[in-house]
Formats: sequence, C-alpha cells, structure tokens
Amino acid sequence: MPKPKEKTSPGYLKYELKSFEKMPVKIWDDAIDAARSVARSIELAIRQRQQDGEKIVLGLATGSTPIKVYEELVRMHKEDGLSFQNVVTFNLDEYYPMPREAQQSYWRFMHEYLFDHVDIKSENIHIPDGTVPMEKVAEYCERYEKLIDLAGGIDIQLLGIGRTGHIGFNEPGAWETSPTRMVRLDHLTRHDAIKDFQSEDDVPYRAITMGVGSIFKARTVYLMAWGSHKAEIVQQAVEGEISNSVPASFLQKHPNVKVVLDKSAAEELTKMKSPWLAGICNWTEDLICKAVVWLSQQTGKAILKLTDEDYNEHGLSELIIEEAKPYELNIRIFNRLQRTITGWPGGKPHADDTNRPERAKPAKKRVILFSPHPDDDVISMGATFQRLVDQGHEVHVAYQTSGNIAVHDWDALRYAEFMLEFSEKYGEVSEAERNLYQKVIRFLKKKDNSTEDIPEVRSIKGLIRRGEARAGARFTGLDDDHIHFLDMPFYETGRTRKKPLGDEDIRIVADLMEKVKPHQVYAAGDLADPHGTHRVCLEAIFGAYKLLEKESWIKDCWLWMYRGAWHEWAVHEIEMAVPMSPQQLRRKRQAIFMHQSQKDRPPFPGGDVREFWQRAEDRNRETAQTYSALGLAEYEAMEAFVRWKG
Ligand code: F6R
Repeated sequence: MPKPKEKTSPGYLKYELKSFEKMPVKIWDDAIDAARSVARSIELAIRQRQQDGEKIVLGLATGSTPIKVYEELVRMHKEDGLSFQNVVTFNLDEYYPMPREAQQSYWRFMHEYLFDHVDIKSENIHIPDGTVPMEKVAEYCERYEKLIDLAGGIDIQLLGIGRTGHIGFNEPGAWETSPTRMVRLDHLTRHDAIKDFQSEDDVPYRAITMGVGSIFKARTVYLMAWGSHKAEIVQQAVEGEISNSVPASFLQKHPNVKVVLDKSAAEELTKMKSPWLAGICNWTEDLICKAVVWLSQQTGKAILKLTDEDYNEHGLSELIIEEAKPYELNIRIFNRLQRTITGWPGGKPHADDTNRPERAKPAKKRVILFSPHPDDDVISMGATFQRLVDQGHEVHVAYQTSGNIAVHDWDALRYAEFMLEFSEKYGEVSEAERNLYQKVIRFLKKKDNSTEDIPEVRSIKGLIRRGEARAGARFTGLDDDHIHFLDMPFYETGRTRKKPLGDEDIRIVADLMEKVKPHQVYAAGDLADPHGTHRVCLEAIFGAYKLLEKESWIKDCWLWMYRGAWHEWAVHEIEMAVPMSPQQLRRKRQAIFMHQSQKDRPPFPGGDVREFWQRAEDRNRETAQTYSALGLAEYEAMEAFVRWKG
C-alpha cells in the first residue's frame, strides 16, 4: 500500500483541479495574508498612477472584511512612504438615517480606519450622506453616480459580501443595472449588524448604496470574504447560477473580478469541501479522513459498513485504487477517529499513550485555560475543565478581557444602587464615595444608546463579569489563587471597535505562562474569526509562545484549541473529543448559569436567539451524534479540541 503523502501547507493552496468556479478565486491560509495581498495590489496601482502623474479612483467598502486591508495601507503610508495625494475614493454605502459622528456611521468607520491616518485630500473623499432629507435622497443619489463618472469611473472596487449575498447594500432582489439609490435592509443583514448596535431596534431599516450597475462599471473588482460564516454564500456566488437572489453572483459577468478568500470562507467550494469531485487530489491522510467521513455522511452508513460500490458511486474510486481495500481503509479511519475520544483530557496516568491524544506523563499536569471573555471557559469547555480539576491537575483559568461592554446598563445601575445603599447602611460613607455612586447612578439613568460609558461604569460592568467568572470557576472547583484576570488593554475601548493587539497584551499573557510553566494550554481557536476578540486573544497566545520560545519548558507546552463562538471543528479535524454523560452536561449548564448578566438577552447577542447554555448544549450534542452516526460510541455530548502545532 503506498504511504499517505506528507501534508504540506503552502501559504497559497494549490490544487490542480477541474474548476466548478465561475469567477477566478484565490484562497489564502489566513485572512491577514489575503488582505495584505489586496493592499499590495492597491499600492502598486496607486504608485503606477503616481508615476504617470494621474489620479486613481478607489471604490471602498466598510464592515469587518476590509479592515486589515486598510490597516496595511496605513502601515504602507507610515513605513513605506505610500502617498494618497492622487487617490480619490467613493464609498459604497451608508446607513440611513445616520449622522456622521455616530459610532456606527460608515463615515466614522472610514476616518478611523483609513482617512485620518493617511495624506488623502478631504475633497477627494466621497461617502454617501446619511443625513440628506428623505425628499432629496433620489436627487442626491443621482449626483453621487455622476460624480463617480466625472472622476473617470472606479479603477479598483473593494467588496465584502453579506450573508444574504449582498454587495454594497444590494440585497436579494436587486437588479443587475441598479444605480445608487435608497434601499431597505434585509432582515438577516440587520441581524448581523446587531454586533455594532446595542439592540436590533437601533439598527436602521434603510441605507443609501451604490447599485449593482454602479459596481459593475468598476475596472477591477476584488470580492473578499473571511471566515466560515461566509462559506455558504460564497459558494453560491462563485459556483451557483447568476440570480438576483444572490446579488454577488452578478459578478460572474464582470470581465475583471477577483475573489479573494481565506481557507474558512472557501470551505464550501467544491474543490475544498469534496475535492475528489473536482479532479485529482493530493491524498494526504487528513484528506482521506475527510473523504471517508464525507462518504459515510453522504450514504448515511457507519464507516465500517462502507463498501466498494459506495466508494465507486461517489467519485472516490481513486482512493481505493491508490490506498487500500475499502475494509482496511474503513478500519484505519475508524481507529483514527476512535482514538480521539478520551475521558482523560490531561492524559491517562500509567496508560500506554502511543495512540492517545495526550501524554500520560507527567500524571499531574499544570494547565492554563485561557478564556477570551469571562464565560468562554465554561461555555466552550466546561466539562473538560471539570474533568481536569477532578483528575487532580493544577488548573489555572485566565480571563483575557474584562468583557465589560456586554453588560446591560440596568445591571450596572442595580449594582451601583446596591453599593450606595449597603455602604450607607453599614459604613461611614465619605462625601467622595457618595458623589462617586451618585455620579454613576445619574449617568446611567440619563444614558441613551449613543453615549459611551464613563470609566466608572465600565469598571462596574467589568467587576460584574469578574464576579460571575469567579463563581463559575469556583463552582468547577478552583480556588482564588488559580483564577486570573488579565484585562488585556486592547479590549478597553468601551466600544465594540477594539484597538489592535499590542506588545503589552502579549507580555501579560507571557508573564502568566512564565509563572505557571504549563504542560497544557487551552485557548479559543477561532482562526475563522479574523477580527473578533477571540482571534485577537489567540494571536496574543501565539505571540507569547514566540516570546518564550527559548524557554526549555515551552517545547512541552501543548496548546489545545477549543472552538469558541459559532461552530464546532469538523469531525475530520478533531484530535481530542471529551465525552459527557447527561449528568456532566447538566453540571456544565450550572456553571454557565453563574454568568447571570449574560442570561436571556445579553447585549450584543449576535444573530442567534438561543441562550449561551443552549447553544453550547446543542453543539456538544451534535458532535456526539455525528460521532455516533459514523459508527463510533454513542455519548450524550462531547467537547472537541484541535492541537496547534506551531
Ligand atoms: C459595507 C458593505 C457590505 C459589507 C458586507 C459584509 O460597505 O457594503 O456589503 O461588505 O455586509 O460585511 P462584513 O465585512 O462586516 O462581514
């Protein structure tokens, strides 16, 4: 039997495959590299025009997708002398109504991420105006369109894609030649926007957007997408029929469009999801595992029941010709998956660990569980946390950020009043103290949704979350010496928009690691989430590993990644699956309940209406059901981990 080929990981994945794609697609391992490549193309174009003494017109997008492109352009301006003097910009859209200075305005977004940091002339900046009176909007839009034409048309248009398939705010139903105009936002788009607003009621119903027709006139278009939450709609736009139910699919007709994706956003494309359907594959052991799991799911049969015919009929005959007889292959993959299941996440003492996910020695390990927000520890790995403690390991939990923005004002008010009344009842309340409480109470009673919190309120909100985190960790069996609050500074803006990760953030993480010298580290491995807090917290841990690389103990410090916010690892990726009994699952729920400020509807709940404990249970049950459907043991629920190997 030929040996499976070694896994290679080039920055840009190469597959020599037949294409299902109707637009040119470039897939990068990482969103940051992808964004930098787009920024480089823009830089080259700007410099080229400068040499020719000409202007260049850029069409710009907002949202989370282009942020890294803008950060890189700002870096190029500061470090490589890239000038924006000859750059003219037109933004795609703006919410309506929306004052310029509002926290959520695209006007503010563009200035904060790009315009305030480069030497662009203010008269060259164009952003649809969210304050134009309703009766003048049509005329305003017509003028905007004309201004683009007068500037010579857009040379490079940047686009993100919404989960509805929108480009700009051209929602499903938008027609191909549509111009700049006022539109209504789709329900899903408004839902996704909640991340920037306090509640759904605050998200505007309308926007002014350049049309599909306006976008189409651009000479070059970059459609970018990062993260697995975009994978499905990207697949429809790139591989599906052209249709106004997915407006991004119109781009298939554009003569010069480039789709730039990270691996997660590309995962539903045929060449990534089931490359065997697209042509010849480079059969690594990981890909074989993925194919066998896929086949089992397609046929609804347990792995050990898959036959020659199943492989042949589903485009996998090549695998059994090259690799093995189906039965041998089935057993090999079955064993691989079976071995991921362990009730001993810290390693099983005195057992043969050749095929176990963790090492047996040392029997008692030092462990740090990093939790980006104060509740991710129990939500994402509460049962594993419990087992590690019960099995006698020295477990530390480290809450990386204060999580203060996700506390309702009414909770902060309740605590402020409580503190004032309690001190008045039992203590000598100084004038200064009373003033402090009253200042907070007054502020909270008057506050509206556009006001940023004063530092004292941020601090109360952070303390509320601290108390809850402590309660959850104590419930799991930790004493206070093993509970650490890192309050990483990048998070402390009081807004959803955070600062970039800094050296101090990394140093704080490294200091704790240096103190504990752990054998195991757990972290939220949301590689798919390029801009969120989880990803930044993970970057800080990677940064700490780098800082500590010369330490002798760091080589033995394994990093296990759990999936935080949205979804679970795919089965073929899982390297450790920790099962739970119904009783253990209930216990995990109780730990999650300690986070009372996050119950019912927390601020910034995202688009999912389920509470966090429900999301966690559904996800853990689903993993167990997936394992059982593959013909492995049947458990109530499972938490899953992947090991980071640097
Ligand atoms: C923003 C815009 C939108 C976004 C899209 C994706 O100017 O026009 O089409 O590009 O909603 O948003 P993110 O990047 O936040 O996922």
